[in-house]
Amino acid sequence: MASYLNFALLFAVFSVGCSARSLMMTEKFCKTQSLQTNLTFNTCVDLPTLGATLHWNYDSMTGDLDLAFTASNPGGWIAWGINPTGLRMLGTQAMVAVFDSSSMVVTPYTYNISSYSSVIPGPISFPYSNLTAVVDDFRTAIFAHMMLTPETTTVNTVWQVGPMNGTRTIAMHSMDYDNLNSVLKLDLIQPDVGSPAPAPSPSPMAM
Ligand SMILES: *[C@@H]1O[C@H](CO)[C@@H](O)[C@H](O)[C@H]1NC(C)=O
Ligand SMILES: *[C@@H]1O[C@H](CO)[C@@H](O)[C@H](O)[C@H]1NC(C)=O
Ligand SMILES: *[C@@H]1O[C@H](CO)[C@@H](O)[C@H](O)[C@H]1NC(C)=O
Ligand SMILES: *[C@@H]1O[C@H](CO)[C@@H](O)[C@H](O)[C@H]1NC(C)=O
Repeated sequence: MASYLNFALLFAVFSVGCSARSLMMTEKFCKTQSLQTNLTFNTCVDLPTLGATLHWNYDSMTGDLDLAFTASNPGGWIAWGINPTGLRMLGTQAMVAVFDSSSMVVTPYTYNISSYSSVIPGPISFPYSNLTAVVDDFRTAIFAHMMLTPETTTVNTVWQVGPMNGTRTIAMHSMDYDNLNSVLKLDLIQPDVGSPAPAPSPSPMAM
Protein backbone atom coordinates (compact mmCIF):
# COMPACT_ATOMS: atom_id res chain seq x y z
CA MET A 1 0.00 0.00 0.00
CA ALA A 2 2.68 2.42 1.06
CA SER A 3 4.74 1.77 -2.03
CA TYR A 4 1.66 2.15 -4.22
CA LEU A 5 0.99 5.56 -2.69
CA ASN A 6 4.60 6.58 -3.18
CA PHE A 7 4.42 5.53 -6.78
CA ALA A 8 1.16 7.42 -7.28
CA LEU A 9 2.63 10.53 -5.72
CA LEU A 10 5.75 10.32 -7.84
CA PHE A 11 3.64 9.91 -10.93
CA ALA A 12 1.45 12.87 -9.98
CA VAL A 13 4.50 15.09 -9.56
CA PHE A 14 5.90 13.87 -12.84
CA SER A 15 2.66 14.57 -14.73
CA VAL A 16 2.32 18.03 -13.25
CA GLY A 17 5.89 18.73 -14.33
CA CYS A 18 5.11 17.58 -17.85
CA SER A 19 1.86 19.46 -18.22
CA ALA A 20 3.41 22.64 -16.83
CA ARG A 21 6.14 22.33 -19.44
CA SER A 22 3.76 21.78 -22.36
CA LEU A 23 1.47 24.50 -21.04
CA MET A 24 4.31 26.98 -21.17
CA MET A 25 5.03 26.04 -24.76
CA THR A 26 1.58 25.66 -26.25
CA GLU A 27 -1.10 27.27 -24.10
CA LYS A 28 -2.63 30.37 -25.53
CA PHE A 29 -4.07 32.38 -22.68
CA CYS A 30 -5.73 35.06 -24.80
CA LYS A 31 -8.46 32.68 -25.92
CA THR A 32 -9.57 31.65 -22.45
CA GLN A 33 -8.58 34.49 -20.18
CA SER A 34 -11.21 36.42 -18.24
CA LEU A 35 -10.03 39.70 -16.84
CA GLN A 36 -11.17 41.45 -13.69
CA THR A 37 -12.29 44.56 -15.52
CA ASN A 38 -15.39 45.99 -17.11
CA LEU A 39 -13.42 47.10 -20.14
CA THR A 40 -13.65 45.01 -23.29
CA PHE A 41 -10.45 44.68 -25.26
CA ASN A 42 -10.46 44.28 -29.02
CA THR A 43 -6.99 42.80 -29.35
CA CYS A 44 -4.94 40.33 -27.35
CA VAL A 45 -1.62 38.71 -28.02
CA ASP A 46 0.08 35.86 -26.23
CA LEU A 47 3.56 37.29 -25.83
CA PRO A 48 6.34 34.92 -26.90
CA THR A 49 7.87 34.46 -23.44
CA LEU A 50 6.98 34.07 -19.76
CA GLY A 51 3.37 33.04 -20.52
CA ALA A 52 2.41 36.70 -20.59
CA THR A 53 -0.48 38.32 -22.45
CA LEU A 54 -1.24 41.82 -23.57
CA HIS A 55 -4.80 42.97 -24.26
CA TRP A 56 -5.47 46.42 -25.65
CA ASN A 57 -7.65 48.95 -27.42
CA TYR A 58 -5.81 51.57 -29.38
CA ASP A 59 -6.82 54.68 -31.27
CA SER A 60 -3.84 55.63 -33.41
CA MET A 61 -5.35 59.00 -34.30
CA THR A 62 -5.23 60.17 -30.69
CA GLY A 63 -2.65 57.78 -29.18
CA ASP A 64 -5.18 56.56 -26.58
CA LEU A 65 -4.15 53.11 -25.39
CA ASP A 66 -6.11 51.00 -22.90
CA LEU A 67 -4.21 47.91 -21.88
CA ALA A 68 -4.18 44.87 -19.67
CA PHE A 69 -0.92 43.00 -19.16
CA THR A 70 -1.02 39.63 -17.41
CA ALA A 71 1.55 37.09 -16.28
CA SER A 72 1.68 34.35 -13.70
CA ASN A 73 4.25 34.91 -10.97
CA PRO A 74 2.79 34.04 -7.56
CA GLY A 75 4.43 35.98 -4.75
CA GLY A 76 6.54 38.08 -7.12
CA TRP A 77 6.39 41.15 -9.33
CA ILE A 78 5.36 41.50 -12.97
CA ALA A 79 6.18 44.39 -15.27
CA TRP A 80 5.27 45.74 -18.67
CA GLY A 81 6.53 48.82 -20.42
CA ILE A 82 7.39 50.71 -23.56
CA ASN A 83 10.97 51.62 -24.38
CA PRO A 84 11.20 54.64 -26.70
CA THR A 85 14.98 54.16 -26.93
CA GLY A 86 15.31 50.54 -28.09
CA LEU A 87 14.48 46.87 -27.59
CA ARG A 88 16.02 46.51 -24.16
CA MET A 89 15.40 47.03 -20.46
CA LEU A 90 17.34 50.28 -20.02
CA GLY A 91 15.14 53.21 -20.95
CA THR A 92 11.87 51.32 -20.45
CA GLN A 93 8.95 53.30 -19.12
CA ALA A 94 7.48 50.52 -17.05
CA MET A 95 4.43 49.68 -15.00
CA VAL A 96 5.21 47.20 -12.26
CA ALA A 97 2.76 45.28 -10.08
CA VAL A 98 4.46 44.62 -6.76
CA PHE A 99 3.19 41.89 -4.47
CA ASP A 100 3.20 42.70 -0.78
CA SER A 101 3.30 39.41 1.11
CA SER A 102 2.22 41.04 4.38
CA SER A 103 -1.06 42.40 2.96
CA MET A 104 -1.33 39.89 0.06
CA VAL A 105 -2.23 42.65 -2.37
CA VAL A 106 -0.51 43.89 -5.51
CA THR A 107 0.15 47.57 -5.97
CA PRO A 108 1.12 49.14 -9.30
CA TYR A 109 3.98 51.59 -9.63
CA THR A 110 5.68 53.30 -12.54
CA TYR A 111 9.41 52.88 -13.10
CA ASN A 112 11.66 54.90 -15.39
CA ILE A 113 14.37 52.27 -15.76
CA SER A 114 17.56 54.22 -16.25
CA SER A 115 20.07 52.02 -14.43
CA TYR A 116 20.57 48.31 -13.71
CA SER A 117 21.82 48.96 -10.21
CA SER A 118 19.07 51.22 -8.94
CA VAL A 119 15.60 50.17 -10.07
CA ILE A 120 13.19 52.35 -8.15
CA PRO A 121 9.70 53.77 -8.73
CA GLY A 122 9.47 57.16 -10.38
CA PRO A 123 7.62 59.21 -12.99
CA ILE A 124 7.49 57.94 -16.57
CA SER A 125 7.46 59.94 -19.78
CA PHE A 126 3.99 58.82 -20.95
CA PRO A 127 0.85 60.37 -19.50
CA TYR A 128 -1.29 57.63 -18.00
CA SER A 129 -4.34 57.15 -15.82
CA ASN A 130 -6.37 54.41 -14.20
CA LEU A 131 -3.31 52.36 -13.33
CA THR A 132 -4.46 49.37 -11.29
CA ALA A 133 -3.28 45.86 -10.55
CA VAL A 134 -5.07 42.74 -9.37
CA VAL A 135 -3.93 39.27 -8.47
CA ASP A 136 -5.88 36.04 -8.29
CA ASP A 137 -4.79 32.44 -7.74
CA PHE A 138 -3.34 32.15 -11.20
CA ARG A 139 -2.24 35.47 -12.63
CA THR A 140 -1.45 39.07 -11.92
CA ALA A 141 -2.87 41.77 -14.17
CA ILE A 142 -1.89 45.39 -14.72
CA PHE A 143 -4.51 47.72 -16.21
CA ALA A 144 -3.84 51.22 -17.48
CA HIS A 145 -4.83 53.93 -19.85
CA MET A 146 -1.83 55.48 -21.59
CA MET A 147 -1.37 58.36 -24.01
CA LEU A 148 1.09 57.64 -26.79
CA THR A 149 2.19 60.24 -29.29
CA PRO A 150 -0.70 60.49 -31.81
CA GLU A 151 -0.17 58.38 -34.92
CA THR A 152 2.25 56.01 -33.22
CA THR A 153 1.68 52.53 -34.63
CA THR A 154 4.65 50.50 -33.40
CA VAL A 155 6.21 50.41 -29.95
CA ASN A 156 9.12 48.58 -28.34
CA THR A 157 7.48 46.54 -25.61
CA VAL A 158 9.37 45.04 -22.70
CA TRP A 159 7.97 42.75 -20.03
CA GLN A 160 9.35 40.83 -17.10
CA VAL A 161 8.65 38.85 -13.94
CA GLY A 162 10.80 38.47 -10.85
CA PRO A 163 10.90 37.77 -7.13
CA MET A 164 10.40 40.12 -4.22
CA ASN A 165 13.13 41.12 -1.78
CA GLY A 166 11.21 41.29 1.47
CA THR A 167 7.63 42.55 1.44
CA ARG A 168 7.91 45.66 -0.73
CA THR A 169 11.15 45.80 -2.71
CA ILE A 170 11.56 44.07 -6.03
CA ALA A 171 14.58 41.86 -6.56
CA MET A 172 16.35 41.18 -9.82
CA HIS A 173 14.72 38.84 -12.32
CA SER A 174 16.43 35.64 -13.35
CA MET A 175 18.83 35.64 -16.29
CA ASP A 176 17.12 32.71 -18.05
CA TYR A 177 16.62 32.73 -21.79
CA ASP A 178 12.97 33.81 -21.54
CA ASN A 179 13.76 36.65 -19.15
CA LEU A 180 16.44 38.00 -21.44
CA ASN A 181 14.22 37.76 -24.51
CA SER A 182 11.11 39.47 -23.22
CA VAL A 183 11.18 42.29 -25.73
CA LEU A 184 9.13 42.74 -28.86
CA LYS A 185 8.60 45.39 -31.50
CA LEU A 186 4.81 45.44 -31.43
CA ASP A 187 2.56 46.80 -34.13
CA LEU A 188 -0.51 47.98 -32.23
CA ILE A 189 -2.65 48.01 -35.38
CA GLN A 190 -1.61 44.71 -36.97
CA PRO A 191 0.12 42.70 -34.28
CA ASP A 192 2.26 39.76 -35.30
CA VAL A 193 4.08 38.19 -32.41
CA GLY A 194 5.42 35.31 -34.49
CA SER A 195 5.96 31.99 -32.83
CA PRO A 196 7.93 31.48 -29.65
CA ALA A 197 11.55 30.52 -30.08
CA PRO A 198 11.92 26.75 -29.65
CA ALA A 199 12.93 25.85 -26.12
CA PRO A 200 16.37 24.26 -25.94
CA SER A 201 15.85 20.51 -25.62
CA PRO A 202 16.82 19.32 -22.17
CA SER A 203 19.93 17.18 -22.15
CA PRO A 204 19.33 13.60 -20.99
CA MET A 205 22.06 14.07 -18.37
CA ALA A 206 20.11 16.89 -16.74
CA MET A 207 16.96 14.79 -16.36
C1 LIG B 1 -17.82 46.66 -13.06
O1 LIG B 1 -18.94 47.50 -12.99
C2 LIG B 1 -19.80 47.20 -11.90
C3 LIG B 1 -21.06 48.06 -12.03
O2 LIG B 1 -20.71 49.42 -12.28
C4 LIG B 1 -19.05 47.47 -10.60
O3 LIG B 1 -19.86 47.17 -9.50
C5 LIG B 1 -17.81 46.58 -10.57
O4 LIG B 1 -17.03 46.89 -9.41
C6 LIG B 1 -16.96 46.80 -11.80
N1 LIG B 1 -15.89 45.82 -11.81
C7 LIG B 1 -14.62 46.14 -11.95
C8 LIG B 1 -13.64 44.99 -11.94
O5 LIG B 1 -14.24 47.30 -12.12
C1 LIG C 1 14.03 59.00 -16.84
O1 LIG C 1 15.41 58.84 -16.56
C2 LIG C 1 16.26 59.48 -17.50
C3 LIG C 1 17.69 59.12 -17.16
O2 LIG C 1 17.96 59.41 -15.80
C4 LIG C 1 15.99 60.98 -17.47
O3 LIG C 1 16.79 61.65 -18.44
C5 LIG C 1 14.50 61.26 -17.77
O4 LIG C 1 14.23 62.63 -17.64
C6 LIG C 1 13.64 60.46 -16.83
N1 LIG C 1 12.24 60.61 -17.23
C7 LIG C 1 11.29 61.04 -16.41
C8 LIG C 1 9.93 61.12 -16.96
O5 LIG C 1 11.51 61.35 -15.25
C1 LIG D 1 -10.83 55.68 -15.77
O1 LIG D 1 -11.74 54.97 -14.95
C2 LIG D 1 -12.96 55.64 -14.74
C3 LIG D 1 -13.74 54.86 -13.69
O2 LIG D 1 -13.72 53.48 -13.95
C4 LIG D 1 -13.69 55.72 -16.06
O3 LIG D 1 -14.92 56.37 -15.91
C5 LIG D 1 -12.82 56.49 -17.05
O4 LIG D 1 -13.43 56.48 -18.32
C6 LIG D 1 -11.44 55.88 -17.15
N1 LIG D 1 -10.61 56.76 -17.92
C7 LIG D 1 -9.88 56.33 -18.93
C8 LIG D 1 -9.10 57.39 -19.65
O5 LIG D 1 -9.83 55.15 -19.25
C1 LIG E 1 17.63 42.83 -0.69
O1 LIG E 1 17.68 44.11 -0.12
C2 LIG E 1 18.83 44.31 0.70
C3 LIG E 1 18.66 45.67 1.39
O2 LIG E 1 18.47 46.70 0.44
C4 LIG E 1 20.06 44.23 -0.16
O3 LIG E 1 21.22 44.42 0.62
C5 LIG E 1 20.12 42.86 -0.83
O4 LIG E 1 21.22 42.81 -1.71
C6 LIG E 1 18.84 42.61 -1.58
N1 LIG E 1 18.83 41.24 -2.09
C7 LIG E 1 18.43 40.95 -3.32
C8 LIG E 1 18.44 39.50 -3.67
O5 LIG E 1 18.06 41.79 -4.13
